[in-house]
Amino acid sequence: MSNKVSVPVNNDLCPQTLFTYGTFREDGQPNFGLFCWFSYCWFDDLGVMCAIGGHKQTQDRIRATGVFSANLVTESTLALADYFGTADGHDADKMTVPCRWERGQVLDVPVLSDCPFAFELEVERTISTNDEEGDTVFLCRIRNVLKDAELVDSDLPVEEIMRRLGVVSTTGTCDYWAWDGRHLGKWHEPAQQIRPGVQVGKAAQQ
Ligand SMILES: Cc1cc2nc3c(=O)[nH]c(=O)nc-3n(C[C@H](O)[C@H](O)[C@H](O)COP(=O)(O)O)c2cc1C
Repeated sequence: MSNKVSVPVNNDLCPQTLFTYGTFREDGQPNFGLFCWFSYCWFDDLGVMCAIGGHKQTQDRIRATGVFSANLVTESTLALADYFGTADGHDADKMTVPCRWERGQVLDVPVLSDCPFAFELEVERTISTNDEEGDTVFLCRIRNVLKDAELVDSDLPVEEIMRRLGVVSTTGTCDYWAWDGRHLGKWHEPAQQIRPGVQVGKAAQQ
């Protein structure tokens, strides 16, 4: 006798790793958004796949330039990352908050200086998953991996490196979780430390 129960389609208890995606806007200034529908695929080398909803500045700029960065979110950058997932990139003032960034080393993409691990990505294939809404999956080549120097050839055990990194994950319940399981808040709460009163942008609701 099975102890399983069929429930409506959802992924509420499935942990997802968070990345901020960086693109250059049309005016040459960087824009960052927050994303968790991210995983890996294989070409003749490791690649990544990213599901992005329509109507977002990030998607517009990936389509226009074919490149972007994916920056691993950690506890020390969670408030800024949550702000990037709250404010709408089509609003001219989204990126007026303090944010340290630099250019990628292989692709012309903005990378967050305070993220310890980042991918420089080039779109290989674009798949529409919902023509009406513009929802899209991008299959990407990893053109470069950037790591903080102290993480390279470290003698520390992986367990200790991961603890120090403080990687953040999320669940479909709209919660943030620490690597060691602590609750770090609901979506759009940490963003208030960056810009008090910031509201969820139109794009984030779609
Ligand atoms: C925790 C979290 C995860 C998110 N993950 C995704 C995602 O995987 N795909 C997506 O299309 N939007 C996702 N969003 C919404 C975008 O971050 C939001 O629309 C943001 O405004 C995008 O930035 P942009 O407007 O500058 O493009 C997420 C938001 C949050 C708070």
